[in-house]
Amino acid sequence: MPVTVVVGAQFGDEAKGKISDYLASGFRHVVRTGGGPNAGHSIHLGERSVVLHQLSCGALHPGVSAISGPGMVINPMSLEKELAELAAKGWLKGDVILSERAHVILPLHELEDGWEEALRTANPGDPGLGTTRRGIGPAYEDRYGRFGLRMVDLTRPEALRTKLDLLFRRKSFLKDLPDPQALFGQLSEVGQRLAPMIRATEPILWGAIESGEPILLEGAQSALLDVDFGTYPYVTSSHPTSAGALVGSGIPPAELDEVIGVSKAYSTRVGAGPFPTEVQGELGEYLRREGGERGATTGRPRRCGWLDLVLLRYAARLNGFTSLAITKVDVLGGLEEVPVCTQYLASSGETLRRYPPSVAEELEKVTPIYEKFPAWPGFTERLKERLRREGARALPGPLRAFLHYVAAETHVPVEWVSFGAQRDDTVWLGRGAVAPRAPTVTEWTG
Ligand code: IMP
Repeated sequence: MPVTVVVGAQFGDEAKGKISDYLASGFRHVVRTGGGPNAGHSIHLGERSVVLHQLSCGALHPGVSAISGPGMVINPMSLEKELAELAAKGWLKGDVILSERAHVILPLHELEDGWEEALRTANPGDPGLGTTRRGIGPAYEDRYGRFGLRMVDLTRPEALRTKLDLLFRRKSFLKDLPDPQALFGQLSEVGQRLAPMIRATEPILWGAIESGEPILLEGAQSALLDVDFGTYPYVTSSHPTSAGALVGSGIPPAELDEVIGVSKAYSTRVGAGPFPTEVQGELGEYLRREGGERGATTGRPRRCGWLDLVLLRYAARLNGFTSLAITKVDVLGGLEEVPVCTQYLASSGETLRRYPPSVAEELEKVTPIYEKFPAWPGFTERLKERLRREGARALPGPLRAFLHYVAAETHVPVEWVSFGAQRDDTVWLGRGAVAPRAPTVTEWTG
């Protein structure tokens, strides 16, 4: 069964894009399965870099099809810009295919996103959700309300006119709506240009499964932002879980082979919502600076904190992780110690280890209980070189112990570790090299 899914295990920005890109050349199809231009997958190659928003990283690899799948909401105007930027930089190497079933984000949705956020922040002190303002929520609302425009409609002028007309009537409560005729013209033109890429993508993937071609489902956003299982209402409007990746691609569950969960060695979050292990002050600033923690889509500074094993155990269960990729371990190198939250003390006095409160206000109130572990040395170029060459054998003792500890606590082996922004700053540790087992004393002490 050749289907692998990469999902974020935290609040987004775990470097899923980087892990997907690292793996992509081993796959024939790489599929984005949900979300839209709220995602920002940064890929660095030497001095050059690119941020993918609506394309999967298959676009960067020759011989790979980059499918923007049915579960997505796509802004066709910004997609064209993304394609043009990639082509201008000479990075567009894959075969881009856009699902005809993906929904279209219109300027109306972006307006509505702002309108909804204003509604939520009307009372002083109300944080709102801190959305990316890319129209994601309203586009999914219209999708489920059955008012949505789909990518295929961009290639059918009659249907486009009728559906757009209905949508304008539905949005009549919004101020400063664009001119419907002008928008129709713009969408028809974009539709004509994108038409050769707009296709039915499920048969392509089913055919791939039948002929044994491997498929990578590239998640965007993350488990704790899932509209049902995340920290509701501080979530996005899609299902960024392994189950969501199947719905968002049309691949049946029994075909799924591997589920790779991606987690930073610490945590970050952009936007509002509970974040039990958030660190303020100098240490928070340190993580932000060393980790370059700024949103790839909005440029907002990310909130930073320590690794939260309660949430990671929950994400592992929810997604059925078969392996973990732990990223940004270099950021913690050289610290005096590495705190890890192992459980919560709830306001009721109960201890919580693997299932966080489903009510955001209660999650806000938990007290994280930390264990502090010896840190590993700072990452020198020499260490990076050794890791690239020797893999698991070159892991510094305390880092190896930390990874074993995470594996033991989540019951998921750690197979990948990433220690920098570059494509080759990731190593595959191998099957079973960091399996769930208690770390030894000598590992901890190096
Ligand atoms: P929306 O997806 O723009 O509606 O935003 C809802 C929440 O999800 C906000 O807190 C965003 O900051 C967050 N969010 C959405 N996409 C991402 C992402 O790709 N990385 C991190 N946070 C995200």
